[in-house]
Amino acid sequence: MVKVLEYVFEELNTVPNFPETAYRALKMLEDENVNFEKLAQVIRYDATITANFLKLVNSAYIGLRRKVESLSQAFALLGLNQIRFFLVAACAGQYLNRALHGYGLSPYEVWLHSLGSGVFAELIAEKVKARNPDHVFTAALLHDIGKLVLDLFVGGELEVIRELVKDEGLTFMEAEIMVLGTDHAIVGAELLRRWGFPQETIFAVRAHHDEDWMVQNQTAAIVALSNMLTNLVGIGMGADGLSYRVPSKLLKVAGLKDRELFSIITEGFKRYQNIKENLLSQAR
Ligand SMILES: [Fe+2]
Ligand SMILES: [Fe+2]
Repeated sequence: MVKVLEYVFEELNTVPNFPETAYRALKMLEDENVNFEKLAQVIRYDATITANFLKLVNSAYIGLRRKVESLSQAFALLGLNQIRFFLVAACAGQYLNRALHGYGLSPYEVWLHSLGSGVFAELIAEKVKARNPDHVFTAALLHDIGKLVLDLFVGGELEVIRELVKDEGLTFMEAEIMVLGTDHAIVGAELLRRWGFPQETIFAVRAHHDEDWMVQNQTAAIVALSNMLTNLVGIGMGADGLSYRVPSKLLKVAGLKDRELFSIITEGFKRYQNIKENLLSQAR
């Protein structure tokens, strides 16, 4: 078991860096008075990120009268937080748009679960006026990235994990720990640390299945809650420590009232459906 753990952490070095363009752009977006002209200049050089960004914006805003075709057009239409959200999503897409064979997930399932969590996180951050919305989006979109790493390097062991979940009734997290000596939350947080993400983002990823840790700060709470709601409405990632109870403490730390939860779920699901249908129709 220790061998597996060491191997996974060693192999983490071989995962490519998070795109430089994304770092620079996200840094610029920390400034409320960011110069959009300069921001567009930074992003424009990365064709994949630009294309993904425009695709996502056009998917999410089906109500737009015309198609958004340029970065400056998108910036003029969107709020600062929406720009942040779609930018992180556009950058994360290249990591999350792939199959996780060990987990029995198609690229679409992985991507939709990440996007779904991101959409809920965006909505909650907006509703509660989160202190650090950019940390919230990044952590929500990347919260399960540890699964990608485990799938890459120990895909074979995942068979054993799946069997333990099925036959012994363990949660996926418990089975990951038993077989690998680590779990996807630990591995994901470590990857983000190596990529140089802020401590708050790393912590939220680390905490997303831990009931004590997820209530330590607002970012961690919103991220864990977004993951739960995403599973709750059926945008699941298989057996991802599924829980249908949303603890009131979690809502409180996130900054939400119990009675606000229903509207968050319906609105979030609507937004997610919009994105999903449009992404699918663009892919066809
Ligand atoms: Fe997870
Ligand atoms: Fe998840």
